[in-house]
Amino acid sequence: MSFETVIMAAGKGTRMKSKLPKVLHKVCGKPMLQHVIDASEKAGSAREVVVIGSGAELVRESISGVEFVMQEEQLGTGHAVLCAKDKFAESEGTLLVLCGDTPLLTSKLLKNFTEYHKEKGSAATVLMAEMPDPTGYGRIIKDGDGSFIRIVEEKDATVEEKKIKQVNAGVYCFDVKKLFKYLEQVRNENAQGEYYLPDVLPILKSVGEKVSTYQAEYCEDTVGINSRVQLAAADKALRMRKERELMESGVTIVDPAMTFIDVDVEIGQDTIIHPNTYLEGATHIGEDCEIGPDVRFVNMKVGNNVKVQFSYCHDAEICSDVTLGPYVHIRPGSRISEQVKIGNFVEVKNSVIGQGTKLPHLQYIGDSDVGANVNIGCGTTVCNYDGKNKHRTKIGDNAFVGCNTNLVAPVTVESGAYIAAGSTITKNVPKDSLAIARARQTNIKDWNDKRK
Ligand code: UD1
Ligand code: CA
Repeated sequence: MSFETVIMAAGKGTRMKSKLPKVLHKVCGKPMLQHVIDASEKAGSAREVVVIGSGAELVRESISGVEFVMQEEQLGTGHAVLCAKDKFAESEGTLLVLCGDTPLLTSKLLKNFTEYHKEKGSAATVLMAEMPDPTGYGRIIKDGDGSFIRIVEEKDATVEEKKIKQVNAGVYCFDVKKLFKYLEQVRNENAQGEYYLPDVLPILKSVGEKVSTYQAEYCEDTVGINSRVQLAAADKALRMRKERELMESGVTIVDPAMTFIDVDVEIGQDTIIHPNTYLEGATHIGEDCEIGPDVRFVNMKVGNNVKVQFSYCHDAEICSDVTLGPYVHIRPGSRISEQVKIGNFVEVKNSVIGQGTKLPHLQYIGDSDVGANVNIGCGTTVCNYDGKNKHRTKIGDNAFVGCNTNLVAPVTVESGAYIAAGSTITKNVPKDSLAIARARQTNIKDWNDKRK
């Protein structure tokens, strides 16, 4: 049986000292709120309702596939969940409650946790973690025989209570009917004057309902992010987790500490990632590739057996058996076909480069359709912009473009055509012909003697 989820994400995140709502700060390339949503979906959540408030419009724009409810004033976590009450009027069974600032939660942990809650038949279950440094978290107060009493927030805790290392991870399962029946009874008489969600737990107990705790196996999975220092630590922890998964699946990462891979990146078996490589966004890399050192890929689709070093490529596709670099810039909308070789200091923008074509050094190819087995000489430039509009250039299969050619778009070089070095091509070049478009050379005899 599945469950529904509510995620609290209305707080400002004062301790972040940021103009951006806290839950939109990215961890391994993805907003922390999105991490939480993805984990709960993967754990089997049927539906997610996100409580928003601070920076609500920005959150709405950045996050999709969930329902939103507004908490106009941030009066505390108990109040936040209460704002979502109407959304669950028809609901029965389990409601998973999460915070938007715990991006390391795993779907496995949430699945085990919700299953435990159901097995126990409790009205509420709290996820508990044993933190080496519990500072900032709510502490779990238990009685002599280990049963749950209540949670005390750091700001309300006595010196003795602050020594407790068992903390509230901010993750709860509730019987949805029972939660909303008693949530309104929570008062705000505490150090922060807030309605604390954890305060509903002793209320449930007092009416004879069962409240359980469940201990997370790895406390790192439950850390909450309240500051930029914690953000950096979470980023590192998640990166290491991602890289461990990749290595376990057959990817070589030469130096994990010097490699930066976003969570949704996919990499095939026997690919080697060299240091100082950044793989970001929705990047998919095939098998047997060698990427890096010093490569940045953003939203790249990459085939098998591709070798790239010292380069930046974004929002483009590189097919199998391509060699790139050093110092190549592949820009959005480009497709680099199989067996292409692109050498040093080459920029390709919004262009298709056909199979087996060579761009060995110092070229700019923009808004172009280049055929197969084309050779483009050093220093060639596509003049795609007339100051007002961009135009396309077409180069047919097996064409040969000599060094230092300017191709003034719109222009077509048909298949098998040759262009002499140093030409400025403004007219179409027919199939298999030679175009020379440069001033003839004049040699002035004994010029140097006369000069003297
Ligand atoms: C909360 C818990 C604490 C727990 C910790 C785990 C309470 C009172 N305390 O503390 O016991 O150890 O999380 O990380 O619940 N939010 C709203 N509306 C509000 C207030 C908060 O939506 O009015 C959201 C925030 O955006 C955030 C989450 O609730 O995503 C938690 O709020 P935060 O202020 O970070 O709570 P903590 O002090 O960390
Ligand atoms: Ca928090």
